[in-house]
Amino acid sequence: MPEDSEDFLLLNPGPVPVTDEVLRAMAEPMVSHRSTEFEAVYERAQDGLDYVFTRSTPDGETTSEGGTSLILNGTATMGMEAAVANLVGGGGNVVSLVNGKFGRRFARIADRYASVTRVEADWGASIPVEAVAEAVTDDTDLVTMVHNETSTGLLNPVAEVGEIAAEHGARFVVDGVTSLGGDEFRIDDWNVDVAITDAQKALAAPPGTSAMYVTEGAEDALDGESAPFYEDLDWHLRKAAQHQTPFTSAVPLFRALAVAVEDIVEETMPARIERHRAQARAFREGFAAMGLDSFPAPEGPTAFSNTVTAISLPESIRGDDSAAFFDAVADRNVSISGGQAHLGGRIFRVSNMGRLSAAQILRGVRAVGEAMDEVGIDVDVDAGADAAEAELPAEADAVEA
Ligand SMILES: Cc1ncc(COP(=O)(O)O)c(C=O)c1O
Repeated sequence: MPEDSEDFLLLNPGPVPVTDEVLRAMAEPMVSHRSTEFEAVYERAQDGLDYVFTRSTPDGETTSEGGTSLILNGTATMGMEAAVANLVGGGGNVVSLVNGKFGRRFARIADRYASVTRVEADWGASIPVEAVAEAVTDDTDLVTMVHNETSTGLLNPVAEVGEIAAEHGARFVVDGVTSLGGDEFRIDDWNVDVAITDAQKALAAPPGTSAMYVTEGAEDALDGESAPFYEDLDWHLRKAAQHQTPFTSAVPLFRALAVAVEDIVEETMPARIERHRAQARAFREGFAAMGLDSFPAPEGPTAFSNTVTAISLPESIRGDDSAAFFDAVADRNVSISGGQAHLGGRIFRVSNMGRLSAAQILRGVRAVGEAMDEVGIDVDVDAGADAAEAELPAEADAVEA
């Protein structure tokens, strides 16, 4: 059995662990959300978000200028709805790509406002770009897609879809909730009009706020009055220019977000992208060396996620029998996720978003291997740990959780 003394290790794909500094930021005395103190906090968070939204490339080059980063008092679903409702709230034609739970959510949100054509693939399968090219026409007002599909561990091809949207003059809204802050993201090169992310994922801040980057070109297309009152983006943009929100801000969460994004600026996005890629490879190679199968099998321009790894549960521990495996992982003081919706009891998922160390990734690989062994699956835990370790540069150990 594991040692009880080991710290709790949170490997769920959100919320993710946050640093002590981020936690401490939430414990400071309240101030008014209309005070200069709060405006300074908002501006710090906004500056850090500008960096993440526009400099998420392996060499740190700038991918967009002149757009606005704004922060919402609500999780990413609010950002997704705000984007859709402000762009097609008065009706229109939307093409939504669906190959997982969050792509489906985007389509469901769009259903409430506009006429939606879904381009679908099984959850975990890649959406053929040709099918998107057929669905998007000159009558398409908006295309929605999820970059990193958290429910299946797939990285969907935003560049290719953005090109199709641009060819037809359609607006392009991308959910970068589990990629931004951990992986490459190119606003202008990918023709993205609005990008959305969430505090509690790769930004490594607590849950409760989300953020959005509205490009200069997209601002004119927004119609705040077609959106729910709370999500009027014209209003949010006006207030963001003053470093405020239209309504009362979740002051402690904004403070925490400011500290978290400053950590990212300090680490730099190129280093962060490289670290996330190495850590995701470590999970994949580690589990493969133990004889476990990847759940997604990406094709074409679709790739494995660099932030979330999804693994098929062996036949003998699927369905109700999966509970013993998840309990055995939890007994090791490690928290991982199962599958969502119909993937429940069929897969497990681990995240490497945020500031995990190499040692924590290795502990995750071992915890899963030992739990498998405990429920009767024949795995070679040491081979898994060795394969994972081979992917992790030694200096990654320097990053404190
Ligand atoms: C890709 C993606 N989009 C959107 C969301 C929605 O986040 P929430 O349910 O916190 O609003 C999540 C949450 O896991 C996600 O992973």
